[in-house]
Order: sequence, then structure tokens, then C-alpha cells
Amino acid sequence: MNTVIVYYSLEGNTDYAAKRIADITGADIIRLYPKKTYPDKGFRKFLFGGKSAVMAETPELEAYSFNSDKYERVIFGFPIWASNIAPPIRTFIKENNLIGKHISAFACQSGSGAEKAFEKLKACLNTDKLDYTLILIDPKLKPNEENNRKINEFCEALLHS
Ligand SMILES: Cc1cc2nc3c(=O)[nH]c(=O)nc-3n(C[C@H](O)[C@H](O)[C@H](O)COP(=O)(O)O)c2cc1C
Repeated sequence: MNTVIVYYSLEGNTDYAAKRIADITGADIIRLYPKKTYPDKGFRKFLFGGKSAVMAETPELEAYSFNSDKYERVIFGFPIWASNIAPPIRTFIKENNLIGKHISAFACQSGSGAEKAFEKLKACLNTDKLDYTLILIDPKLKPNEENNRKINEFCEALLHS
């Protein structure tokens, strides 16, 4: 299945995972960048990012190139923000027609909230099903065997479907 990974990363963990998944599966990769960057340090990071996620904002994105006809499958990757999907993913979904695509997703978090965020992702996509999901704990910040094993299993499932 022709596959593209569409992801956002503020601090590099989702970027790390996206690149590993792309290496293993051969998927194309699109990194989203909001025009107005979120703060990446201290209290402001949690305040601005958290508020934006809770308000389900759709921040304007830098130009990206996505040819929908080329792909049968889209894998979304994002950090968990306040138990929600990171807002740039919402913008991408709003801007593109994904009807009929196979959708999978992976999320990076430091504690919990990914399951709730996957429900929000489904609502945003207007679907009741994600094919495969993967939850990682800060895979770049805290590299460990558990994260590597989970990434490999996720990729195996994708490659055999
Ligand atoms: C605004 C904000 C809100 C966050 N909310 C959560 C949360 O609800 N649950 C959680 O486990 N981690 C939360 N985190 C931590 C990140 O999800 C986690 O560190 C993730 O690996 C970061 O991915 P990134 O490096 O790709 O940005 C939050 C981080 C930020 C910046």
C-alpha cells in the first residue's frame, strides 16, 4: 500500500519515531510546521500548546506538498497535548479530503492521554476506525528497548496488511 506519514513534532520525539517508521516501511514522510511556532520551553510551552489543543485550534501551516491520489494509506504522528492531538494535525485533516484512505496513527507522550487523543482523531476524521495505533513514551528523550520493540511491531503490522 502506498503510504505517507504525516506528522508534527515540537521537541523531536515524534520526528524520531516518524523517521524510524519511514526507514523500516519505506513510507514517504511529510512534516507539518505551523506558521506561528509554539513555544518550546518552560511554562509558556504548556500554556500555549495546551490551550491550543484544548480549544481544538487549526493553526495555519507552512506550505507542504501532499498528493492525495498517490496514497492509499496515511499514518498520522503527533505528540499528545493535554490528552489531545497536536493542533497542526487538525489543520491537515481540515485541508485535505481523506475519504477512503486507510488511516493509522502513532502518538508520543510522557505519561498518558494517547487513547483519548485517538478518539479525538477519529472524531476529527469522522471515522470509527483506525487500522493500527502505536503509543510511545518520549522515544528520543528516553530511548529504550520497549519503544524500539513497539515501533518494530507497528511496522510489521503495516507491512503485512
Ligand atoms: C503543550 C503540551 C502538552 C502536553 N500534554 C501531555 C499530556 O497530556 N500527556 C502526556 O503524557 N504528555 C504530554 N506532553 C508531553 C509530550 O506529549 C511528550 O513529551 C512527547 O513525546 C513530545 O513529542 P515531540 O517531541 O514530538 O514534541 C505535553 C507536552 C506539551 C508541550
